[in-house]
Amino acid sequence: MAQRPNVNRTIATLRSTLSGFRAKRQTVALVPTMGALHRGHLALVKEAQKRARRVVVSIFVNPTQFAPHEDFGSYPRRFAADIQALTEAGVDVVWAPSPEVMYPAGFSTRLAPDGAALAGLEDKFRPHFFGGVATVVAKLFTQVAPDFAVFGQKDYQQLRVVTQMAKDLDLPVKIVGLPTVREKDGLALSSRNIYLSELERGHAPALYRTLKTSAERIKAGEPIEMVLEEGRAQIELAEFDLDYLEARHALTLAPVTSVKDGPIRLLVAAKIGKTRLIDNLAV
Ligand code: PAJ
Repeated sequence: MAQRPNVNRTIATLRSTLSGFRAKRQTVALVPTMGALHRGHLALVKEAQKRARRVVVSIFVNPTQFAPHEDFGSYPRRFAADIQALTEAGVDVVWAPSPEVMYPAGFSTRLAPDGAALAGLEDKFRPHFFGGVATVVAKLFTQVAPDFAVFGQKDYQQLRVVTQMAKDLDLPVKIVGLPTVREKDGLALSSRNIYLSELERGHAPALYRTLKTSAERIKAGEPIEMVLEEGRAQIELAEFDLDYLEARHALTLAPVTSVKDGPIRLLVAAKIGKTRLIDNLAV
């Protein structure tokens, strides 16, 4: 029978667990998550297991990346089911600090990422978000000191911000970004998909469909702004309240006007009912 992961809730026990691995010169890969694990998270775990001898999965719903009006309180928490899934996956260690362990009384340091973090995409609608993400991921990287850290391209701007942050802070970790795991109809797996009503779930694949047709049309040479305008209309026809559909440089996330501007990534965010979904695709 698969062995339950070693669940650590304090910095002291985490350090002692990790020093055992280090003493044996075993490499470590970290998969940061907020729990409510699905096949997308488990694909990251599999990749982590390919890269390193030991895998640490962090489960921490990070309060500093939610604004007061957002879903921190109601964000799905499924610790027992998560541990079950990670047991079956053969994960070695779970790092599950409480908010008080991550942010003890008096905590006063917050990273302020620039560059991709101010691209005018997620940051425009969630201005507090990347400061919170960069701060908690920097802490996770110093707590675990992993050789590798595996993230999903699903949160594309986050992947760019975290990659730059690790580089800027000279953290000796290799960031690995993995393609988005999707449902059969194209909807990107997300812990927030459980918020969707049956009707909304029916409309939800419109995001991926629009990304796909827009990417094909841009690749075929159609003018980017025209393709995006039509894509925006399609998404709104599917009952979404659109935040953005943009074409950006795949690395810097700077605006692009033509395929000659470099590798292009399409990024979308939209609300359906109370649920906000994001997705992205390479052109
Ligand atoms: P969370 O939303 O739980 O996502 C954890 C990791 O899983 C992220 O790297 C995310 O991109 C990846 N992921 C989510 N859905 C995916 C899918 N369908 N396919 C592939 N990968 C997917 O992102 C966060 O948590 C937090 O911001 C965190 C980085 C943990 C910092 O708090």
